[in-house]
Amino acid sequence: MRTVSWNYETNQVEMIDQRLLPAVFEIATFDDFRQVARAITEMVVRGAPAIGAAAAFGIALAARQSPATDEDQLLADLESAAEILKAARPTAVNLAWAVRRQLAAARASRGEGVEAIRNRLLAAAQEIADADVELNRRMGFHGAELIADGATILHHCNTGALATVDWGTALGVIFAAHEQGKKIHVLVDETRPRLQGAMLTAWELQQRGISHDIIADNAAGHFMRRGEVDIVLVGSDRTAANGDVANKIGTYKLAVVAKENGVPFYPVVPTSTIDLELANGDLIPIEERPQDEVLCVAGQRIAPEGSTARNPAFDVTPHRYVTGIVTEVGIVYPPFVKHLREAVEKAQGQ
Ligand code: MRU
Repeated sequence: MRTVSWNYETNQVEMIDQRLLPAVFEIATFDDFRQVARAITEMVVRGAPAIGAAAAFGIALAARQSPATDEDQLLADLESAAEILKAARPTAVNLAWAVRRQLAAARASRGEGVEAIRNRLLAAAQEIADADVELNRRMGFHGAELIADGATILHHCNTGALATVDWGTALGVIFAAHEQGKKIHVLVDETRPRLQGAMLTAWELQQRGISHDIIADNAAGHFMRRGEVDIVLVGSDRTAANGDVANKIGTYKLAVVAKENGVPFYPVVPTSTIDLELANGDLIPIEERPQDEVLCVAGQRIAPEGSTARNPAFDVTPHRYVTGIVTEVGIVYPPFVKHLREAVEKAQGQ
């Protein structure tokens, strides 16, 4: 089962409802692009590549919902749907990237008629989803060469099949190493406030029989200082042209402690997550989420009434802490300004 997909019998978008895992496995269905946007905001679906694919299917849905009988009207409807979908979450560039690709596909089909544009958009969304699975496999293959037999890997948030269409980015590297028969152990950061590590990553590792321990985020430094971590693997929601990496809140702290302790730190990043238009990470918009995610645990308020919270969902790790970046076209090393651009060009040429 893919994290996000199109049901060709009902013409609906389907998603695994990630808010319910690991207790309940339920599929949510959507027949309105506005509901898809809400599902992204409310994190029914999450993870940069998964929300990109969801938005692409959202545009395909918007095309079917539009009553337009002429191309200009259809394109106008698609552009307003695109604004709503893009606003659903600001940090992951895959969302804007997928929406932009869909609008370009619609414009490229101009002259073929509204039905042809509708069909093209569904096919293009399907291509984005299928390509995601395939390139995650390639990143897994490249990244697995960094994992020694017997290695202990520290992992943050959830970057697995659930964060993508299938397979995963950083977790995909771990799956690939496991598939190659390497004996590995994963220290799973629980990832407060939403606990994607404890709830989703641990579930995915368990399904594949991969040895792991969940740790409190605050324990990561302890294990690194004691020499118990061989490599840190994380994902990214947006990587700037200079190699600064925006990822789940807490990643920056991990990277600093990793460098201090000589532990290699590798983000695993499809080229669709690289934003060459942004010179550095300070320009990446950081999503602020509701205070309740911090003030409450499992729906129960734990903080005193009257206390307030700050809840940035992502942080930026400056590239000086990044050992290398795993992409679908290989592992990129500094200088990132040059090598990331080359990686993007290589991926676009494939
Ligand atoms: O807020 P989330 O759960 O969407 O955050 C997800 C992450 O931070 C991942 O590391 C990132 O999307 C890249 S992994 C596919």
